[in-house]
Amino acid sequence: MRIRFLAVLMLAIPLLGGCAEAPDTSPSVEQSHFGVTPSGDSVAVFALQGADGMQMEAMTYGGIILSLEVPDGEGALEDVALGFDSLAAYTRDAYRSANPYFGAVIGRYGNRIDEGRFSVNGDTYTLATNNGPNHLHGGREGFDQVVWNAEPFHRADSVGLTLTHTSPDGHGGYPGRLDVTVTYTLAPGNELVIDYEATTTETTPVNLTQHSYFNLGGGDSESILDHRLKIHAEAYTPVDSTLIPIGEYRPVQDTPFDFTSFTPIGERIGAENRQIGIAGGYDHNFVLAREDSDSLRMAAEVYDPESGRLMTVRTTEPGLQFYSGNFLDGSFTSKSGAPYRQHAGFALETQHFPDSPNQADFPSTLLRPNETYRSRTVYGFSTPDSLNTGP
Ligand code: GLA
Repeated sequence: MRIRFLAVLMLAIPLLGGCAEAPDTSPSVEQSHFGVTPSGDSVAVFALQGADGMQMEAMTYGGIILSLEVPDGEGALEDVALGFDSLAAYTRDAYRSANPYFGAVIGRYGNRIDEGRFSVNGDTYTLATNNGPNHLHGGREGFDQVVWNAEPFHRADSVGLTLTHTSPDGHGGYPGRLDVTVTYTLAPGNELVIDYEATTTETTPVNLTQHSYFNLGGGDSESILDHRLKIHAEAYTPVDSTLIPIGEYRPVQDTPFDFTSFTPIGERIGAENRQIGIAGGYDHNFVLAREDSDSLRMAAEVYDPESGRLMTVRTTEPGLQFYSGNFLDGSFTSKSGAPYRQHAGFALETQHFPDSPNQADFPSTLLRPNETYRSRTVYGFSTPDSLNTGP
């Protein structure tokens, strides 16, 4: 379901204009007012139309992607992203206290830091603990809850939104001032490209990601358990009872974590397995690579046999958190009022590994003052004629 806008500011000149009757599907971006936060900040929403049909709505609060419409096998657009259609639904206490981070930019540190503590150059830093004993997704006031500055852009065959935010020196307990830019681009071929950039004034851990939940069935499809998932990872990082990695790279082979060929998400989600038991399903970091790289690699593919939609995830990041929506319990309702129950959506969060600041063997997440943090993830949507879903 698309959110309807009243006052609309057209920022794009349609590329193929001139034909009054024809539906306008050329790339465009429209800005409008979405609401005001409880602390009085005005929030804008941007409606983006990609060159090949995909549409996205994102707002300045949390950089949250509100909706993402992509075609099914018949060409019908449906919203495959979980979320709400009002700002208040995201800012109210009942949402923030059980925060599922629908569609949000995550930082400064995506995923968990053990007991919210780490050391840099001999100095120990203490962060808020907001997930049992641990720090999760940037703490109590992470990037999902700040109002970002936003500049839309329009290029020959793509449109997008550049979001910027300055996290003040010491914010939330992190060292240094962090200047962050996150860019959403709708590129040809129904691709959502997400670019992250950051610089700091002091050496500090940074791990930025995006927390959209998807259900490729669109609309109010209730479950993702029939989606076929392939993850390009031979190992994952098993966790302790608080979801902190125990430091091991464990092979996925012969375990419910083996998604090296397309497998229904629900096939082994109830398996007798300690790791599945701890998380109540999948909520684990898969090891795409053990070292940093600048090049995009295929991380995961998800296919919904019902709609025919295939989503691919490519990233420069070494890790991928696969979260099967275990904590959704029906207390939040969709844009059309249907409850989001357990496994209503999945998240594939490209990232560095959880708790890296305390794990010497994991790729480093430290950003130094003379460096620029750069990371790219591409979510691609297509409807292949056939898909080999077997091993
Ligand atoms: C991440 C975490 C999960 C959960 C969700 C939000 O994916 O790994 O444990 O906190 O965010 O509910």
